[in-house]
Amino acid sequence: MSARRPYRSRAWFDTPELYGWLRRAALQAEGFSPSAYEGRPLIGICNSWSELTHCNAHLRQLAEAVKRGVWQAGGVPLEFPVMSLGEYNMRPTTMLYRNLMSMDVEESISANPLDGVVLLGGCDKTTPALLMGAASADVPAILVTGGPQLKAYWRGEALGSCTDCRRYEQEWRAGRLSEEEWAELQGCIVRSPGHCMVMGTASTMAAMGEALGLALPGNTAIPAVDARRLQLAEAAGRQIVRLVELDLRPSKILTRAAFENAIRTLHAIGGSTNAIIHLIALAGRVGLELPLSLFDALSRTTPFLLDLKPSGRFLMEDFFYAGGLPALLKQLAPLLHLDALTVTGRTLGENLAAARVDNPEVIRSLDNPLHPEGGLAVLYGSLAPRGALIKPTAASPALLQHRGRAVVFEDHEDLLRRIDDPNLDVRPDDVLVLRNAGPLGAPGMPEWGFLPLPRKLLQQGVRDMVRLSDARMSGTAFGTVVVHVTPEAAAGGPLAAVRTGDWIELDVPARRLELLVPAEEIARRLAARPPRRHFRRGYGWLFTQHVLQADQGCDFDFLRAAALQPERDERPGASLQGTP
Ligand code: FES
Repeated sequence: MSARRPYRSRAWFDTPELYGWLRRAALQAEGFSPSAYEGRPLIGICNSWSELTHCNAHLRQLAEAVKRGVWQAGGVPLEFPVMSLGEYNMRPTTMLYRNLMSMDVEESISANPLDGVVLLGGCDKTTPALLMGAASADVPAILVTGGPQLKAYWRGEALGSCTDCRRYEQEWRAGRLSEEEWAELQGCIVRSPGHCMVMGTASTMAAMGEALGLALPGNTAIPAVDARRLQLAEAAGRQIVRLVELDLRPSKILTRAAFENAIRTLHAIGGSTNAIIHLIALAGRVGLELPLSLFDALSRTTPFLLDLKPSGRFLMEDFFYAGGLPALLKQLAPLLHLDALTVTGRTLGENLAAARVDNPEVIRSLDNPLHPEGGLAVLYGSLAPRGALIKPTAASPALLQHRGRAVVFEDHEDLLRRIDDPNLDVRPDDVLVLRNAGPLGAPGMPEWGFLPLPRKLLQQGVRDMVRLSDARMSGTAFGTVVVHVTPEAAAGGPLAAVRTGDWIELDVPARRLELLVPAEEIARRLAARPPRRHFRRGYGWLFTQHVLQADQGCDFDFLRAAALQPERDERPGASLQGTP
């Protein structure tokens, strides 16, 4: 293949000094003959495969399919590893490391002779980290996710990880499930490779990638083990070579219109609250601000269409058989910017031409939605001056307007120590409050927002209470749970001032979250609280010095696009990283 324009990678090879010669020698050392690589674009396959990330454990096979496609189209595929973030294994939380992985992705792409890149991810934080890093590197990129696990079955019931893990844990803690049943459930809840198969964070972020135009149509819902996912990966390998020829970079795709499409999609699918943080962070990488008010405004005008757990009944496999994300986007089309450009080289509207709904029970139409408004609401008030989130579609309708007495837990350890204490003074209409669980306080803003209900209330049959915190909540979780209270307690937010016995008012229709304590008293209490510090060195120190609050996406301040930065010197060598 002859290049229509100089490839970015030529800057590494066409040098007068020894290193150009050595770089060719290095490719030949891997067994590539000069005719295999000369004059061809070099395509990176950025792989977050890891045996420590069970959701991504099949990505090596997917990489082989991408390579086939790259060779077919005349490119040279070069697979490389990046940090992987396994949701179950990493402590205290993968969110502490999302920005680190994004830096790994950006620098691995920027520093190497790559003309385009296919991003392989899947588990919750791996997808946003890949997208953020690729957006900052800004070479042509296509996202291919690992796909959802197959549905789980237990005693005739279809189960979703890990919405139903949480539901059955409550039953086990209430003494309504035996140890044998609980162990049996453990053996069958994750049935195949792939990510969680409810509309949790992983599924949501796959949908965000597709709605933004950074993934091929249909990528979101094809099951991980379906042969069509390998075929899609192969097609992505072919298409990335074409994107290099078109010089179609993330910065041309990630426009404000694309983000508005993604936000509407988020509301229509009842997606994870985590996606709000990730979309804000991703937008920041390309110089766009996404205020929380935009999410709320679009939520009020976007019907909720997708009947998937944790907000509904079905699972990702059902979504695939119903037509997948293209079918849902076609329903949503009147509300979308259909002229937004995508990695197919065509517009979103053109991509949807052949899409259709095969099961209207799973994917509803605009005139027959599950709910007239979207799946997420932004709350403000004296307890959350910069906002807090709730997922009304996954909450108990009777608790969406509620006034209750606060039962405060100082941090996660305090919660675990006291929540099942038979002497805990707690009633079903109280509000459980957890603080010091935010970006600085925890640190890393873990998914502790789905506070366990006190065992003694579970045994009385209580299955939901108002819970609030500065933590995040797993996208697979459910209940009347307010998260991302901002500013967090450790940053001096009013959450730090709440005392057990104070009254709290939640009013979701009015979008209010109030601490019913006089403002002067809140200020007096906050003045008396010392700051919390976790790290004195290393990455943790860097994190706490630079992480932004949830309403700014928890990115590092210095990773946002230059347009959002204060004046500072260019780093040495930055000019060497662009296209020659
Ligand atoms: Fe990886 Fe749920 S644990 S997506």
